[in-house]
Amino acid sequence: MADRIKVLLRGNEVEEADTRSMLAAPRANYTRSLWAVRSFARVKQPPSTGSPIISVRNVTASYGAIDVLKGVSFDIHAGRTVAVVGESGSGKSTTARVITGLLQPKNGEVLFNGKPLPASFKARSRDQLRQCQMIYQTADTALNPKLRLHELIGRPAEMYLGLKGEALESRICDLLALIELEPAKYINRLPSELSGGQKQRIGIARALAAEPQLIICDEVTSALDQIVQEGILKLLDRLQGEFNLAYMFITHDLATVKSIADEVVVMQHGAVVERGSKAELFANPKEEYTKLLLSSVPEMDPDWLNRLLAARSNNDKRG
Ligand SMILES: Nc1ncnc2c1ncn2[C@@H]1O[C@H](COP(=O)(O)OP(=O)(O)OP(=O)(O)O)[C@@H](O)[C@H]1O
Ligand SMILES: [Mg+2]
Repeated sequence: MADRIKVLLRGNEVEEADTRSMLAAPRANYTRSLWAVRSFARVKQPPSTGSPIISVRNVTASYGAIDVLKGVSFDIHAGRTVAVVGESGSGKSTTARVITGLLQPKNGEVLFNGKPLPASFKARSRDQLRQCQMIYQTADTALNPKLRLHELIGRPAEMYLGLKGEALESRICDLLALIELEPAKYINRLPSELSGGQKQRIGIARALAAEPQLIICDEVTSALDQIVQEGILKLLDRLQGEFNLAYMFITHDLATVKSIADEVVVMQHGAVVERGSKAELFANPKEEYTKLLLSSVPEMDPDWLNRLLAARSNNDKRG
């Protein structure tokens, strides 16, 4: 939408130019690094085979009288990333709450490796709880500000796997190394001594400490700047390959979906509107809502908005 772009770095102007030349030929390395942000793309995975690790089956749930989920069904396979997208209030986080047992469905169930999970987390075994971990948008509020990283990461390793003494110490260091934070430098820090991206890495380490099969990521990159987001996505992708993790990746950001998803579940008003492989969905969306959602992915193309508006107005004339 912009005519001109000014790039700032730590309070100083890096460069300024009209949009077209700035996008086509940025002068500064910093600007180039900003444009490169969605350069990350997960390697295309073969179609998923075998049985899913998580099956959400016909789940209806409410917070009171009104149903906020209406017959939601989809599967998640080991080693795969299922992106869940849809407008605010469409029920994405509520679906995550049902999977983790924080909210009990009125109807339907969640299967883990083919077996029904008890509806409430209170009735789930420690092993069932260990297998589905969750990372939140606000790394800030998710971490107890009084605890050092040693305890923040150590506690889930102790609780879920019963690690103690030297085994625990070495596991904490391994987990820090896995999220690319030098153990000796970070192990005694408080959350307030970390950047936003580093805090989110601690959220990832805490989830990994449980050695889960599924990690639910609810808007985990939304509060971070573009370059930091890219780093987190790359890290998640590497860890997925290393541990064959399944991700349920809830996001508003379709550029992120494009770069990391294998499959996409589109939600609206508490129901699944459409689901399928990312390639299928982006190439050939069947539902109007999906088309509308996908057409709103902004592109680094100065003519993108004009072309989109022209296409929509042609559609309107025809329709
Ligand atoms: N604790 C709650 N009590 C009552 N209603 C709730 C509660 N949490 C969510 N809702 C309602 O349930 C519906 C689904 O909310 P949910 O948080 O699942 O949406 P979402 O898709 O995650 O949205 P967002 O993208 O904004 O995070 C909304 O209408 C919301 O207002
Ligand atoms: Mg939400």
